[in-house]
Amino acid sequence: MGKVYVCDHPLIQHKLTYIREEKTTTKDFRELVDEVATLMAYEITRDIPLEKVQVKTPVAMAECRIISGRMLGLIPILRAGLGMVDGILKLIPAAKVGHVGLYRDPETLQPVEYYLKLPTDVQERLLIVIDPMLATGGSANAAIEALKKRGCTQIKLMCLIAAPEGVQAVQKAHPDVDIYVAAIDDHLNDHGYIIPGLGDAGDRLFGTK
Ligand code: URA
Repeated sequence: MGKVYVCDHPLIQHKLTYIREEKTTTKDFRELVDEVATLMAYEITRDIPLEKVQVKTPVAMAECRIISGRMLGLIPILRAGLGMVDGILKLIPAAKVGHVGLYRDPETLQPVEYYLKLPTDVQERLLIVIDPMLATGGSANAAIEALKKRGCTQIKLMCLIAAPEGVQAVQKAHPDVDIYVAAIDDHLNDHGYIIPGLGDAGDRLFGTK
């Protein structure tokens, strides 16, 4: 079973409060999501491997540690996932970024892939699938499935807010994928919105309605 990490650092929780607030402007919403993504990047990279290196300080040799080689890939789910990419890249500037576009088929209600562009060495990387809202889990599961189909084996999921239903769906479909969230909310309403949530993350990030 994949683990669920609730990133409850006070800075994340403080900023998430203003992200949720209806009166928050598009500009502030975008900046706050960016900041929380940076803070969550710190949490999600806590267990990535280090390798030993020798460096020469002005006075002696020191055995130090660095993150080894080509490591990370960010996979935002279009479009709301884009809002968290720059914040993560601030801490991990060498990460490659792939994109997954999904829409919901109006008849089957299943997610359908309409766009996929991945780094060429995607199978070698630890991938972070990014979507601010983990609602039913349908999009996250489809994105993870698309990556696994292309040979990817190391995948984590980063979301701002999850519904319990979405967490369960991802854990069931992908027990090897750990989930990092800033909050797990109460439930999904009949329209698929997370309650209390923050509304439509894409609309709030891009100022659309
Ligand atoms: N997507 C959103 O943007 N908000 C929700 O509450 C659920 C899915």
